[in-house]
Amino acid sequence: MARFFELALVSLMVACGSADFVAPPEPPSDDPEALHDWLSAGSYEPWQAESAVLPGLNGAGRRVFLNEAIDPAGSPVGAAGVRELYDGVDGPQIGWSVLIKVDDSEDALQNWYFYETFNLEVRTEHAIAGRGAPGCGFCHGSAPDVIQSSLPLP
Ligand code: HEC
Repeated sequence: MARFFELALVSLMVACGSADFVAPPEPPSDDPEALHDWLSAGSYEPWQAESAVLPGLNGAGRRVFLNEAIDPAGSPVGAAGVRELYDGVDGPQIGWSVLIKVDDSEDALQNWYFYETFNLEVRTEHAIAGRGAPGCGFCHGSAPDVIQSSLPLP
């Protein structure tokens, strides 16, 4: 039996190293509390990421993670980005921002789900959760896609 698990593990590792890489579960886009759980579990950490915490907007530090589906020319449904927010480049983490593409309509504000929290502990607390958040769309609402980072990530 142990041998079976050993073999299963080896084939899993081989599968991960191949083009058939199995992506981690996608973030939930219909339940902010489930999304907070998903973030708290670090589910996005295997995604492509900025190499370190970098200077972000308004003196904040940020580290951006993007899933494989993100295409700056136009992302498919399921594309998602997570930004860890820090209290300055050297400070502790203070929040998360999330973008998830939820449908294929042309409206860049309505076809993405926007989420932001500044409470890492309490799953019910968030500043923004929903489609078409105007405060986010001010910067993220432009065509052809809402993603602000360019690839490859720095
Ligand atoms: C003033 C412009 C501005 C506003 C408003 C803004 N963002 Fe961003 N966002 C950026 C920029 C610029 C980046 C690139 C990384 C960085 O500098 O932080 C970014 C990056 C991100 C990322 C990483 C993926 C990407 O697009 O590169 C997420 C997720 C994100 N923002 C979510 C949000 C959410 C949610 C809101 C609303 C609560 C929001 N942002 C409001 C400018 C903005």
